[in-house]
Amino acid sequence: EKDGHAWFMLKEIAEQPQAVADTLRGRIGETGEIMLDEVRLTDQDLRDVDKVFIVSCGTSYHAGLVAKYAIEHWTRIPCEVELASEFRYRDPVLDRSTLVVVISQSGETMDTLMALRHAKEQKARVLAICNTNGSTIPRESDAVLYTHGGPEIAVASTKAFLTQLAACFLVGLHLAQVRGVKYADEVAAVVAQLQEMPAKIEKVLAGMDPVRELGRELADNKASTVLFIGRHVGYPVALEGALKLKELAYMHAEGFAAGELKHGPIALIAGPAGDRQQSGGPADDESGNPVGHGTPVICIVPSPAGRGLLHDKIVSNIQEVRARGAHTIVIAEEGDDAVIPYADVLVRVPRTPTLLAPFVTTVPLQVLAAAIADARGHDVDQPRNLAKSVTVE
Ligand code: F6R
Repeated sequence: EKDGHAWFMLKEIAEQPQAVADTLRGRIGETGEIMLDEVRLTDQDLRDVDKVFIVSCGTSYHAGLVAKYAIEHWTRIPCEVELASEFRYRDPVLDRSTLVVVISQSGETMDTLMALRHAKEQKARVLAICNTNGSTIPRESDAVLYTHGGPEIAVASTKAFLTQLAACFLVGLHLAQVRGVKYADEVAAVVAQLQEMPAKIEKVLAGMDPVRELGRELADNKASTVLFIGRHVGYPVALEGALKLKELAYMHAEGFAAGELKHGPIALIAGPAGDRQQSGGPADDESGNPVGHGTPVICIVPSPAGRGLLHDKIVSNIQEVRARGAHTIVIAEEGDDAVIPYADVLVRVPRTPTLLAPFVTTVPLQVLAAAIADARGHDVDQPRNLAKSVTVE
């Protein structure tokens, strides 16, 4: 039943091209129009929307964070993303013209369900993005877009995340098309590019041997923390990479917006033992890293073609952490040569438009976390203390 994979998680990682294709199937017309009639929101409903909230937990929250960049850019409607467990306690401003998008793989997450009930009480329209037919969250929502990712057995969410991204993009593009936007050409281009994602994910999967190897190496690392940095949509990808590492490898990990490094987190970077002595630090390596390895920092680099300025800024961030002794693991597009001098380990992903990059940059982080967990002898499918669906608040 695991199709020859050692773990369900690995099977589900491998299924991602198909899962994303299944989410898109039948929802893009011949002329590129997004067809979401099944969702039961009329064009007029969508034209009336003046604010979007995306509410979810964990990995599904990270999908929402990515979606915000796309939805605001394409539709110019303000979009906020909020953790479901915080949402209703904050007394958010909601009314009939607010669209609340709740994202849940299981459709049973209690925090998300309570947030959705709160939104409905305030008369907001609720659209669920969900993977589980007939579960509670879609049943109680006004509208639903199923992700069709197929059952996800491993506790750690992988294919659900990528299919949630696909579904969020469909919603954003549909909103943009219905309302008419100044970026009409870009929207049309993205519709085409979205359909190329399954093939790109396939390409990433084919090149994962070095990442598995890196995972086996990092499994012995006694580093007190592993940092993930990204910018723009790479920031939620960094958060997701850190979450996967925490839940599977039981390592402390944290994701940061790369621009925030200098505002505090850079103090966490410790170099290898020898360097620390030179810089006046104690001779023994407090970070616990093997000699020659500083704090691992995983860097998600945006496309140099898209937002060039951001690309250059993250390259300087990588340079900065490396100068302080970090062991840099860089995820960058093919052809991006600017990162080469600063990458201790370089993982290549196919060229992808900026907003869609999370489809390809997330995959190596999933593979890495699973490889470390496996090498450490953990149960990859059932990490300690966790349940697949969290039905308590
Ligand atoms: C992480 C993970 C969790 C879930 C979260 C929300 O790998 O699986 O963080 O993403 O519990 O679950 P759903 O999407 O079912 O509401």
